[in-house]
Amino acid sequence: MFLLTKAGLDGAFRFLHVLSAFMWMGLLWFFNFVQTPAYAELDPAARNSAFDKLTWRALWWFRNGALATLGTGILVILFNLGNDGYNGDFWKSGPGIMLSAAIVFAFIMAYNVWMVIWPNQQIVIANARNVLAGGEADPAAPPAARKAAMASRQNTIFSFTVIMAMLGVDHFFGGYDQPNAASRVIFYILVLAIAVGFEMNALGKFGTEAGKPNTIMYDTHQMAIWFASGMAVFFVLFFEIVVTKAG
Ligand code: HEM
Repeated sequence: MFLLTKAGLDGAFRFLHVLSAFMWMGLLWFFNFVQTPAYAELDPAARNSAFDKLTWRALWWFRNGALATLGTGILVILFNLGNDGYNGDFWKSGPGIMLSAAIVFAFIMAYNVWMVIWPNQQIVIANARNVLAGGEADPAAPPAARKAAMASRQNTIFSFTVIMAMLGVDHFFGGYDQPNAASRVIFYILVLAIAVGFEMNALGKFGTEAGKPNTIMYDTHQMAIWFASGMAVFFVLFFEIVVTKAG
């Protein structure tokens, strides 16, 4: 039976990985490109009802989609470790370094979902429910919404690069020579600098006020899309430079 062969199980894990990644990314982009601009146009009572009935449900699928993407990604790696797929040489190859970079960004994204977006959205939704029930508005809700929005926009910025890099492992980053050790080191330094710099910014370490140079990428979803596209193009170009330093 095909499904119980090694190839079948590998295929099943990959399928579940892409399925849950669709779930997560679909809802991430729904929140960023559809919900946030639409809620800005709703009157407060309608918005509070929507937080209560719609956002609450969407967040369940969103955070569990993130967890499932992480879990199935780890399963794919564990399943292929040590064989021809992910042996030591693989992690030094062009596809291997792109996959590792994507994993770093994806872990940060999952952290943002569970440790930043979800706790802050709970404050926002609790406030919406309290106001709907006739209670006072919670002054902690607007700053919580801002923290969640910045992390969510940052995840959108990372998302294009992660998908491009993961997809490229099997589909377009292969067939190049192995980059030399120095190029790999430079590659990883840059990946970590981008990951840490962007994430600290998303966590508000350089300020959360809108309209400042450090928050410009979070101010509208159009800006987030520009930054996401720019980052993905930058990584393809950087990959090109790194792998041409083969040897
Ligand atoms: C934002 C989160 C993520 C998204 C959107 C995502 C998406 C994808 C996509 C679209 C593929 C391509 C499947 C193919 O063409 O075969 C893929 C492959 C893969 N992903 Fe992810 N992924 C995410 C997170 C992760 C994480 C956290 C891990 C590991 C811990 C991981 C490990 C892998 C592996 C090992 C592959 C297979 C690469 C190959 O050999 O072709 N992914 N992912």
